[in-house]
This record gives sequence, structure tokens and C-alpha cells, in this order.
Amino acid sequence: MKNENVFLWNGKINIPQEGEFIKLKSDRNMDVPDNPVIPFISGDGIGPEITPVMINVVNAAMEKAYGGAKKIYWVEALAGDKAEEKEMERMPQETLDLLKRSVVSIKGPLGTPVGKPGKSLNSILRQSMDFYSAIRPVYYLGQPTPIPDPERVDVTIFRENSDDVYMAIEYMAGSEGAKKVRNFFINEMGVKDASIPEDAGITIKPMSEFKTKRHVRKAFRYAINNNKKSIAVAGKGNIMKATEGAFLNWAFEVAKEDEFKDKISTEQSSPSGKIKLSKVITDQMLMQLVLNPNAYDVIITQNLNGDYISDLASALVGGPGFVPSGNIGDGYALFESTHGVGMDIAGKGIANPLSITLSGAMMLEYIGFNEAAKLVYDAVKRTIYQGNGTRDIYTGFEKLDKKAVELSTVEFGKHIIREI
Ligand code: NAI
Repeated sequence: MKNENVFLWNGKINIPQEGEFIKLKSDRNMDVPDNPVIPFISGDGIGPEITPVMINVVNAAMEKAYGGAKKIYWVEALAGDKAEEKEMERMPQETLDLLKRSVVSIKGPLGTPVGKPGKSLNSILRQSMDFYSAIRPVYYLGQPTPIPDPERVDVTIFRENSDDVYMAIEYMAGSEGAKKVRNFFINEMGVKDASIPEDAGITIKPMSEFKTKRHVRKAFRYAINNNKKSIAVAGKGNIMKATEGAFLNWAFEVAKEDEFKDKISTEQSSPSGKIKLSKVITDQMLMQLVLNPNAYDVIITQNLNGDYISDLASALVGGPGFVPSGNIGDGYALFESTHGVGMDIAGKGIANPLSITLSGAMMLEYIGFNEAAKLVYDAVKRTIYQGNGTRDIYTGFEKLDKKAVELSTVEFGKHIIREI
């Protein structure tokens, strides 16, 4: 990357004088300058191949939209393998500090070494700035897909990111902890022995009103600002009444708050002009997403269900390689590719750069650079509609007997830039 607005790590984080930091105001709204500093983490595996493509595409869109009047100053922060190579922690404190100071940032995939102790880097990042909502818009761009009429898919999934079984409060079968927890439930809570066998492992699933409601409010605001027609809250409330059932009820309580009561309806037949809110059992939703994806506009759900639902929805449009994502808290935001490090294809120049590139466009929208974001979306669509793409797109088109051109990761990026 030789762009004059990209500032690589050079023994330390290299902050340009020309760039200004985005500021978070006391109401948690952002003050975005015309020359924001945006940190990026290239990531592991295919990360260093796809991240520069995103930066080049976003730069081209910014230049076309604003002719130099607005410009991003990209600052590299290390994490993962690259940090380890420099004999730093895999998630250095200086990286966390920069991300916090900059408010908005973007990253490629980071690997979690199997069999080594330590928390996943993604978990450290998500918890460090309390990115409590993971947002994944899933839509069709013209790529090969496993379902007919994929234009029926246009859904934004809000996955709660800070609650649920992901809190890792777990007791392995046979451990002292599992024995203690089992004894407590049997002796103090009156649970029958047979419900928790002696050889059971136990995972705790906390779900809180505060965490649910702040997540739901974020999704409601998104639905209102983007003129969505319906919102479905998913969960297995019929089985897990204290957690997922409560989540569904809390969502309905939020709909009654002053901010939302005139805009969101909880009635069966929603009055015109109001967004219809409904509860859907997760398994029903997974089935309906395949059979009738246009039934869903915005989905709000918990952490674990959100994992399943977003992967299934991504598969409908060809897989996570085509889907962007943002982790968002109160103002702070970290955008990222949804796929992993793709070790099997790393270094071959064939990785699909769309997930991180579209995450870059999502980030542009988040900071209010909507004109540039639209240029990226339109250019990506035109590039794919012409049958151009990386190997995954090319082989998908071939299977459908469609004429296609195979491009390397870099060539694909250049093609998108030519379409901007
Ligand atoms: P993976 O996404 O790396 O690979 C699954 C398959 O998809 C592979 O065949 C790979 O070649 C392919 N693939 C992935 N991205 C692609 C792209 N952009 N273009 C073309 N093909 C692509 O998932 P896996 O193997 O489950 O995870 C590998 C590592 O990635 C693990 O260490 C995991 O923790 C990490 N990971 C990181 C994530 C993040 O940083 N947000 C998300 C998911 C996994």
C-alpha cells in the first residue's frame, strides 16, 4: 500500500498530522471531521490481501464523491500474527487504545490459535469498547447463489453481542465447579437430581433487561431511519422463558416507550405507516428464511441465535464472503469482514475482498459519508453483474452456466475502482 493517506505501523503507531480524530459528544453522537483518522487492522491469513483492496476502493469512492474535500487518513494498528512477529501481545494495548481514541475503525479476520491458552482476539475487541450490537445487512448483489430469486433476500440482522452463553461461565463435566453448581441447584433450589445428572457439564446463559433493551433500541432506530416495514424478534421463548422469552417481552416493552410508540406497532394488523413488530420462534424463522426470505426486513435476536441466523442468511446470498458487518456500541464502532482467515487460500491472490469492502461502505454510511458509500455499492453490483469476480464467484457462475471472468483479489479491486 503506497497511498499517501495510508500510514503504516513503523515501529510504532504512525498518526498523521493532517488527520483529525472523530469525537464522541456527551450524547454519544459523533463529531466527524472531513479528514478523519480511521485505524485498520489488516488481520491474519487472507487479511493482508483483502484489506488493501478495501482501502483502495474506499479511497476511490471518497475522491469521486468529494473531490478531495473529505479524505480518510488510514492508520495501521497491529494485532494477531503481525503483532506476534514484532514480539508484541497478539492484541497490543496500544491497538486497543488507538481504536478507542478513534471511535470508528475496521479490521480483517483474526485467527484464534487452537490449543493455545487465551481469549479470542475478537472477543477481546468486542468487550473492550462494549460493542453490544453486531449488525449484518444481508442482501443480493448479483453473485451466484444457492437459491432462486435471491433478490428476495434483503434483511438486516441485529445480534446481541454482550450477553448469553458467550459469557463463558462454564463448568466442565466432572469438575469441582460443576459439582458445586449441581449441589446448589439440587439442595438450595429444589431441582430434581435427574435434571442435572452427575456427569453433566453446565453452561450459564445470562440475559439482562438492560443489555437487551439497549440493543433493541438500536435496532428500532435503524428500522425507523431506514423506512423498514417490519421487525421480527427471534428467540425460543417457549422453552427458555427466563432468558429468550424475557428478551422477546423486553423488546415489546421498548416498543411502548415514548420514542417508539407512534412508529412501531405490536398489533397483529399494523396501522399503515407503522412498522410491524412480531415475535418469531427461532426454528420457525430459520425455516422461513429459506422458504420465504422476503418475509424479513429487520431481525433482532440474542447472541447464539444471532450466530445461527446470520450464517444461514449469509448462505442464501452465497456465503459470508459477500456480507459486511459492524460491531456497534454507544458511538464506538468496529467494522469487519464476516469470514475467517482462509488459511487454505492465503497468499494465493484468490480471496474474495467483498466482505471487508462492503464493511468499508457500511462504515462510510456510519460516519455520514453516504455519497461515497453508494458509489461503492453500485460499483460492486456493476462489477459482479458483468460476470467478474474472484475464483469463488467465477466457479459459482460457471456452475450456473453463466459467462464469467476470473479475477485475482487485486484485479477484482481494480475493476470495482474502474466502475466507481
Ligand atoms: P474461514 O472463513 O477462514 O474458512 C472457511 C472457508 O471459506 C475456507 O475454505 C476459506 O478458504 C473460505 N473463505 C473464507 N474467506 C474467504 C474469502 N474472502 N474468499 C474466498 N474464500 C473464503 O473459517 P474457519 O476455517 O472456520 O476459521 C479460520 C480461522 O478464522 C479461525 O482461527 C477462526 O477463529 C477465525 N475467524 C475469525 C473471524 C473474525 O476475525 N471475525 C470470523 C470467523 C473465523
